Amino acid sequence: MIGTVESRTAELSDYELVEAIHRLKKERNAIILAHYYQQPEIQELADFVGDSLGLAQAADKTGAQTILFAGVHFMAETAKILNPKRTVLLPDLNAGCSLADSAPPEKFRAFLDQHPDHVVVSYINCSAEVKAMSDIICTSSNAVRVVNSIPADRKVIFAPDKHLGAYVQRMTGRELVLWDGVCEVHVDISLDKMKFLLGKHPDAKLVAHPECPPHILAEADHVGSTTSLLDFVQRDPGTTFIVATEGGILHKMRAAVPGKNLIAAPANAENSCACAECPYMKMNTLQKVHDALLNSTPEIVLEEQVRARAEIALRRMMQLG
Ligand code: 13P
Ligand code: SF4
Repeated sequence: MIGTVESRTAELSDYELVEAIHRLKKERNAIILAHYYQQPEIQELADFVGDSLGLAQAADKTGAQTILFAGVHFMAETAKILNPKRTVLLPDLNAGCSLADSAPPEKFRAFLDQHPDHVVVSYINCSAEVKAMSDIICTSSNAVRVVNSIPADRKVIFAPDKHLGAYVQRMTGRELVLWDGVCEVHVDISLDKMKFLLGKHPDAKLVAHPECPPHILAEADHVGSTTSLLDFVQRDPGTTFIVATEGGILHKMRAAVPGKNLIAAPANAENSCACAECPYMKMNTLQKVHDALLNSTPEIVLEEQVRARAEIALRRMMQLG
C-alpha cells in the first residue's frame, strides 16, 4: 500500500496529498504538530496548532510513535529532547531560525565562560547544544515568569533574543546580560508603515510579539506570544487590530474572530504576503510533509549526552508552566 502511494507521489494534487497524509498518519501512528506560522493548509491538517510552549507541552504528552513537526528545527529538536524514544520528523531540515543561528555553541560557551556565576536563561529558539549549556529554558509566553522564578540576588544571562530579553528586563525590573541575537522577521516590521496604518485606522489596537524591537512594542496595546495575541483579539471588545508578528497567525485569528478587521503589520522587505513572513517556517509544504511521513525521514537525531542535559533545562521550564 505504501509502495502504491510512493509511486504516485509526483502526481498528487493538494487534495490527494492531504488524503494520503491522513492515511500515512494512521499507518505510522503519527501526530502532526504545527506552529501558527505554518502555511494554512498545513495548520488545517495538524492535530495540534500552537505556540512554542503549547507545542512543547503537546509533544511531551503524546503517545504517538512518530511526531511530525511542522515548524522549524529548534522546535523539532525540543520534541526530540522530550521524546528520546519516539521518531521526530521535520519535513525540511533546512528550516532553521535566525535566533538559533545567532548563538553557535562554541561562541555561546565562550560567552558563558566570560560570565561565571550567572544563571543562564535561554529562549527556546536555540539549538539543543545551547539548551544543554543553560539552566532553564523559556518561551515568549513564560519568559517573565521564568526570570521572576530566579532568586533576586542571582545574576542572569538571557539569550539569544536581545529584544525579548530587553522586554523581560522592563517587565521584571531585573538587570540581564543579553546575548546579541534578533529574529530577522520581527525586526523587519516597519514602524513607518505601521504608523501610517494606525493613522488610517485610528480605532485600531496594536498587538505585538515580544521579539519585536522596543520602538514597535512601545506602540502596542498588548504584547504576548502568538497564543496570547490570538486570545487577546478574541476577548478584547475592539474590532480592528494591527498584528505585529509573522503573518501565518492571521489564519487562526481570522477563523476565531471572523467579524473583526485584522491587518498584518507591514514589513520593510517586499514579500508575497506584504506582511512579516518567516522564510524558514514557510519551507514546509504539503508535499514535504507527505514525503517525510512516507519515508520516515528527515529525522531529528541528537547526541544522548546533549539531549539529556538539554532536557533538564527544558523540564525546569515545563514545571513552571
Ligand atoms: P511563540 O511561538 O512563543 O509565540 O514564538 C514565536 C516564534 O517566533 C517562534 O519561532
Ligand atoms: Fe526564528 Fe523569527 Fe522565524 Fe520564529 S519567526 S522561526 S524566531 S526567524
